[in-house]
Amino acid sequence: MTTGDLDPKNWDEFRARAHALLDDSLDKMSTADQGRVWTPLPNQLKAQIEQPLPRGGGDVDQILRAILPYGVGNTHPRFFGWVHGAGAPSGVLADIIAAAMNVNAGGRNHVAPVVEKQVINWCADVMGFGETASGLIVSGTSLATVVALKTARDQANALASIRGVPQGRLVGYTSNQAHSCIKRAFDLLGLGTDSLRLVPCNDAFEMDTDALIAQIEADVAAGHQPFLVAGTAGAVNMGAIDDLETIADIAAEHKLWFHVDGAFGAAGRLGTAAADRLTGIARADSLAFDFHKWFQVNYEAGLVLIRNDAAHRASFSDRAEYLRGTERGLAGGAFWAVDYGPELSRGFRALKVWAHLVEHGFDALGATIDRNIALAGALRARIVAHERLQPMAPTPLNINCFRYTSDRVDMDILNTEIVIALQESGVAVPSTTVLNGETAIRVNITNHRTQESDLDVLIEAVVEQGARLEKVLDR
Ligand SMILES: Cc1ncc(COP(=O)(O)O)c(C=O)c1O
Repeated sequence: MTTGDLDPKNWDEFRARAHALLDDSLDKMSTADQGRVWTPLPNQLKAQIEQPLPRGGGDVDQILRAILPYGVGNTHPRFFGWVHGAGAPSGVLADIIAAAMNVNAGGRNHVAPVVEKQVINWCADVMGFGETASGLIVSGTSLATVVALKTARDQANALASIRGVPQGRLVGYTSNQAHSCIKRAFDLLGLGTDSLRLVPCNDAFEMDTDALIAQIEADVAAGHQPFLVAGTAGAVNMGAIDDLETIADIAAEHKLWFHVDGAFGAAGRLGTAAADRLTGIARADSLAFDFHKWFQVNYEAGLVLIRNDAAHRASFSDRAEYLRGTERGLAGGAFWAVDYGPELSRGFRALKVWAHLVEHGFDALGATIDRNIALAGALRARIVAHERLQPMAPTPLNINCFRYTSDRVDMDILNTEIVIALQESGVAVPSTTVLNGETAIRVNITNHRTQESDLDVLIEAVVEQGARLEKVLDR
């Protein structure tokens, strides 16, 4: 029995503790559809967590057990907020193995890089990136976007220096519905957020591609250097899918790097309901998406795919002498994650993704996505049919934005209050957004547990809270 300073003094006792906590975790997971969606953390438990500096060490199992009900609530079928996946119990098992192995997956010759590269290869295949693409598993789309845009920026700089022409200011394009992670990446990469042009959208909240061309031409005329266009496959506000094929054409004509933010929408390629609107992904230079959203992998894991492996490596591969690879031994191994991203030390995140894909299979994941899209359509029908509810945007994918109407009170305040009341009631968790200056109740369905009956509960609760709060606000 191992007897390091921090190893259990009694392994039999530790085994019993581990089994008891696993049982509690299984109880939590097997009753995910019961009880409240969200419950705020009680003060007493908060105080136990915020205990004085624990110099002596002590019992932790009681607190581990006690916190189980106080998460975000996204494992519950009536969690509809933001874009959260529901996860799957199978992921817990892989995480136990990964924690037990405690590998550093930054590189070297062991199982983790093999697992990670296999996930990348499968995803490159389903996303139409082909066999020579590279990629990296990261924490999520935000970091995946930084990796992709750094590669794009470095390629633009390298091309300019090869051509020997004086370089203008690098400018890029995305729609005004794009996620803020693209702006964040421009900031982090020192490009300046003003260098990201927010192209207006059409009535369907998709990038206006004529406006894109006009903006590119204006920038060229001003002496700037357009280098990137980022299309969105599933916009966070209401699920719009940009016309990716047309954007790919424009990118090719103007020699721009074509990036796609497919945080949740790219997963639509696994199913049939949205796949025909996602063909343009296969023409992108880079793609960022999440496993923890519509793939239902437990938090957190996302992927960046880059069509040109050499370009990807050129942006990140800079190994110091103590990281030099060898033909044989532990410093061997073909795939070193450190050559493809900013992190050196990293955990075995790839294992839960690999295990999830193998256990469930891409087809079942695609069927879940199609079912979610059908549920969003069913919810829209309920909204349209109700005299007090009004859709605020089309429903191209899995998100409904709508509001409870009133001619007596401010509808922005009323609908914000409805959402807070629903969250606090524990019955359902939608979130809010603002579309064309108006606050909407936003219901996102990226949840394999949601059933049609959950939509009835939601609509009933919205209408009940709406009627109650309208009276309160009208006083
Ligand atoms: C379209 C889109 N892009 C990017 C992100 C950011 O992803 P992450 O939270 O995994 O960094 C999100 C998150 O919801 C998103 O919906």
